[in-house]
Amino acid sequence: MRDKISSKIFIDGGVVAETAEAKEFLGYLDGQTTNPTLIAKNLEARSKNQELSKKISREEALNEYKRIVQEISQIIPQGSISIQVFANKETKAEEMIEQARVRKTWITNGSIKVPCTFEGLSAAEVLCKEMPINITLNFSQSQAAAVYEATKGAKFPVFISPFVGRLDDIGENGMQVVENILKMYSSGDGHVETLTASVRSIEHILYAISLKSPIITIPFKTFKEWASGGFQTPQENYKYFPHDLKPIPYDESIILGKDWKSYDLAHPLTDKGLQRFWDDWMGIVG
Ligand code: E4P
Repeated sequence: MRDKISSKIFIDGGVVAETAEAKEFLGYLDGQTTNPTLIAKNLEARSKNQELSKKISREEALNEYKRIVQEISQIIPQGSISIQVFANKETKAEEMIEQARVRKTWITNGSIKVPCTFEGLSAAEVLCKEMPINITLNFSQSQAAAVYEATKGAKFPVFISPFVGRLDDIGENGMQVVENILKMYSSGDGHVETLTASVRSIEHILYAISLKSPIITIPFKTFKEWASGGFQTPQENYKYFPHDLKPIPYDESIILGKDWKSYDLAHPLTDKGLQRFWDDWMGIVG
């Protein structure tokens, strides 16, 4: 597969055994993304099996997160593993920076995820000089312009994660955000890599490959479907036409080169996603 496509393949999940299985199926794995919801699901399932107590302390839960990414890191020592900070709308940049610095010590191949919010990008501005980062909960071209400018001069890899499935869920063509970001970034210096996230279908994978999205993160369920079809790749003339989804056209008025704080960062799905990550995590800690 590596010689057939230019996109790197990541697994999106929080279960170590799935990482191992995915690597075995594909023969390699370039990385993994995790988030508070995925880790909370893992801990919840283990509570049901009575491997863990029903409500665990914040410290225990964080230690579990650390243990999980450390095990994943042993499976893909050369891969990039995204670890997310815990934040809600009140969380300040300083707090995210502090969390990021601690998470970075967990493994040598970590990339720290901060949200695509004003505070998240204020943190990213500092963190991109210290460690690899991944800007999560991205839903618009305008947010992507801000990410590009906030991380200019980065000394480590910077990923941006447009969440395509969640846009599809509200009836909008999420893959077009990936397309738009790639087009806008094509005039840039290449320091931000677009990581297609919130993937729900084989069509998302095929279109992301044909767009040459640098990275695609795939949930295990969809990964297995892709594997059972023999890891299909798109034909040269592959077309993606989700007729039932509202187009998100390229916005020519959004151009790189301005102060990152001048771009519109607002998106209802960013706010909703931030709250959901927070609630899912808080739901498991006592
Ligand atoms: C990416 O890093 C996220 O973990 C992920 O892709 C979110 O996807 P979802 O919309 O399926 O929760």
